[in-house]
Amino acid sequence: MGHFLSDQQVAAFVNDGFLVVPDFVNAERCLALRQRAMELAEQYVPSPEQATVFTADGKPQHTSDDYFLSSGEQIRCFFEKDAFDEHGGLRAQPHLSLNKLGHAMHDLDPVFSAFSRTPELAAVAHDIGMSQPLLLQSMYIFKQAHIGGEVTCHTDHTYLWTEPQSAVGFWFAIDDATRDNGCMWAVPGGHRLPVRSRSRLNDTRTATVTDVLDPEPYELDNLVSLEAKRGTLVLLHGAVPHLSAANTSDKPRHAYTIHAIDGAAHYLADNWLQRPTLPLRSFTHR
Ligand code: FE2
Repeated sequence: MGHFLSDQQVAAFVNDGFLVVPDFVNAERCLALRQRAMELAEQYVPSPEQATVFTADGKPQHTSDDYFLSSGEQIRCFFEKDAFDEHGGLRAQPHLSLNKLGHAMHDLDPVFSAFSRTPELAAVAHDIGMSQPLLLQSMYIFKQAHIGGEVTCHTDHTYLWTEPQSAVGFWFAIDDATRDNGCMWAVPGGHRLPVRSRSRLNDTRTATVTDVLDPEPYELDNLVSLEAKRGTLVLLHGAVPHLSAANTSDKPRHAYTIHAIDGAAHYLADNWLQRPTLPLRSFTHR
């Protein structure tokens, strides 16, 4: 297994809990993924009644809980809450009204799978100490012009809990992400603090509940903006607090994320995302 990251880059990731790697993917491959995402959006768009809308704090606000909870093995569409008018009708074409696609494009779609599995990604996962990286979920985030919603401060480990903590986000800028169109922000070193909440399935496995482990809000004075040109990879430690603002600009901010866990860690049976029939695979084609 070759190395990709320098010792300095690995040290920065360990220290900060995030790492920005410009020019990781060429623009042509980003645009091909963008095109494919738009096609999937048209192909898989559900009726609004079926769909899940995402609120500002990232919680799915369900017209159908099951549509969300069973999406770990599917390609599904989730709408922006501002996509609808006061009568419940869509303001724009469906594919321009989506918050995201999720959560198994990396296993179900050949274009997404090829983007998600490269020797470079396998090397990066190895470089940051993942012994058996497994691709758990993929999200294509549209962050549409004008209606792209904010994502409030959270950690990914909250949603993708393993013992010990192992989730890592591999975030790709498909469009340029700037402070104007809702780039990510993160708390440097925040991954060394204990994670403050855990989202899990309720006893009937019909909805998610949040266990608050520490009610103190995150200290946001030291937030760093993770501005990223198209093709940039941003690595995010699963315990680092991060957020993004709403996109009030006229430029979309498409991004693609893969969340990987370490197969050497225990994935909890009451995490919302379950994969009963689709085995998890690594960053290599096998
Ligand atoms: Fe996140």
